[in-house]
Amino acid sequence: MQFHHKDLLGLKELSKEEILSILRHAQTMKEILMQDSKKTPHLQGKSVVTLFYENSTRTRMSFELASKYMSANAANITASGSSVAKGESLIDTARTLDRMGTDVIIVRHSSSGAPHLIARNVKASVINAGDGMNEHPTQALLDMFTMMEKKGSIEGLKVAIVGDVKHSRVVRSNIYGLTKLGAEVSVGGPSTLMPPDMDKLGVSVYHSVDEAMMDADVVMGLRIQQERQKSGLLPSLREYHRFFGIDEKRLKCAKPDALLMHPGPVNRGVELTSGVMELDRCFIDEQVTNGVAVRMAILNILTRGGRVE
Ligand code: CP
Repeated sequence: MQFHHKDLLGLKELSKEEILSILRHAQTMKEILMQDSKKTPHLQGKSVVTLFYENSTRTRMSFELASKYMSANAANITASGSSVAKGESLIDTARTLDRMGTDVIIVRHSSSGAPHLIARNVKASVINAGDGMNEHPTQALLDMFTMMEKKGSIEGLKVAIVGDVKHSRVVRSNIYGLTKLGAEVSVGGPSTLMPPDMDKLGVSVYHSVDEAMMDADVVMGLRIQQERQKSGLLPSLREYHRFFGIDEKRLKCAKPDALLMHPGPVNRGVELTSGVMELDRCFIDEQVTNGVAVRMAILNILTRGGRVE
């Protein structure tokens, strides 16, 4: 196993070999996940806490279930239901959890760099479950796992990521991971939702979704992050859908067997029509399942200091 880090904070700092090692281990975990009895002793005696300052369904629940399937003591804490609401600082909150004997702290925060700050101040392993507009590494790992499962390999794939690129931490983690694994990545979306320096990340930038999706092997829609939007970036969601939303006609720009993916949650009728979400080549449900397998793999790797098969 090529992975010798205390924490998983982003894919920017991981090598190709480290990413592939996680994905290979996730395959073993997927086999366990698909069994009738999912209980394994991998994390027996370990304590895992999710510390979420932003809402989540998929990431938080999949970490919690992954921990429980692997026999860890799993607990959740949210900003609104904890002493954070009384004004306790991020570091003091994390140190408090650390001193209770927590082995892994999984953090989601609206500020970029919050998990990195915690990681420098606690003994526990820290996993970034999404920090501001920076990274969401476990989402990109499950996305890449799904692509490998369906296409065999990432090397040489043309991956189009379209939508609200500006506010997306998913896109950044995917770009770091996919380009290291040899994919050709294009991004597309309205110019108001496209940061000026995207081309510096080694991707092709388009202001037309149709052009970004041309001959793609994988099309990934990104959620319009209304909670992070300043007014004036979009005329309306209806206008967005008309010019940038993915429907069956627009999907024809990609290869006929292109995978359709989305990290979720989907704004139906905005990024994707309900019709394309019913297509056989739409793998959003598989992404959710694979999210549990990938998070089981990461928890096992971090709690064993990388000493896994
Ligand atoms: N994709 C994702 O991070 O979803 P949640 O916000 O539901 O965790």
